[in-house]
Amino acid sequence: MKQPPILVIGKNGKTGTRVNQRLQALGYATRPVSRSTTPSFDWENSATWRSAIEGTRAAYVSYQPDLAVPNAEPAVKEFVRVAADAGLEHIVLLSGRGEEGARRAEEVLKNSGLSWNIVRASWFAQNFSESFMLEGILAGELVLPAGDIVEPFIDVDDIADVAVAALTEPGHRNKLFEVTGPRALTFAQCINEISEAIGHPVKYTRIPVDAYINVLNEQGVPKDLQWLLRELFTVVFDGRNCNVMSGVEEALGRPATDFKTYIQKTIESGVWNPVMQKEIV
Ligand SMILES: NC(=O)c1ccc[n+]([C@@H]2O[C@H](COP(=O)([O-])OP(=O)(O)OC[C@H]3O[C@@H](n4cnc5c(N)ncnc54)[C@H](OP(=O)(O)O)[C@@H]3O)[C@@H](O)[C@H]2O)c1
Repeated sequence: MKQPPILVIGKNGKTGTRVNQRLQALGYATRPVSRSTTPSFDWENSATWRSAIEGTRAAYVSYQPDLAVPNAEPAVKEFVRVAADAGLEHIVLLSGRGEEGARRAEEVLKNSGLSWNIVRASWFAQNFSESFMLEGILAGELVLPAGDIVEPFIDVDDIADVAVAALTEPGHRNKLFEVTGPRALTFAQCINEISEAIGHPVKYTRIPVDAYINVLNEQGVPKDLQWLLRELFTVVFDGRNCNVMSGVEEALGRPATDFKTYIQKTIESGVWNPVMQKEIV
């Protein structure tokens, strides 16, 4: 008998895209959703949730914008209720390390009565290439309010591999995987490694968090996103997440991908080409 599809929330996201591709390559039917799909799924409109979930059996859940925001816990609570009512059996939730809001959302899932996995991730390496830090790298200078605190940046490909294992291997059920990269680095060290590998100088500049938020404000970044970035760079980025964890190894039986491998893959993808080409011009 044909298996019902696996729901992937965050079709166009850094993790959702990869989870969906891997599941399809393994022959699983999927239903990738976001605000721009049919059926659509919008975290800010709970009326969209049931029709997206109905007929699926398991779900990969990435919340928007971040489980640290105050709305996240009630939203996850309501999502889990709707999911259970619609017959969903298993949820794999992407979570963030060191976030109080994320911890509360994890508890909601653990106590839901559904079968669950939590993939609690460190900062993504792909923030340097598929998110808000790309612009700085292309401009030759990344300016952020982060100093000497180290972070074991994780390759999002590893997150997707762990999520797929959690979705497809029943032996992993009801486990939390705390996933990080194998080396903890400061932002300045990351930029040095990227700069050396691409063969073009990229500078890292640290500024005070208030100055950073002022710049975001002048750029018209919405207030709730400003709040989130302040929270991430102060509360979450205070040193609590420095340690390397073994979640990738536990789930996959192989080590997590090193930041240097991530850099090589990213160079091959061409996303940093504009900054590399400045050298040639
Ligand atoms: N970045 C990190 O370092 C990090 C670390 C740990 C955990 N996390 C967690 O990762 C999660 C994000 O996952 P990700 O990075 O894979 O996603 P992402 O790349 O941020 O996803 C972007 C996509 O989300 C969709 N989206 C935006 N608002 C939405 C909404 N209201 N409802 C439904 N979809 C929406 C958009 O597609 P449409 O326009 O089509 O809707 C957009 O293309 C967050 O919960 C965050 O806390 C991130």
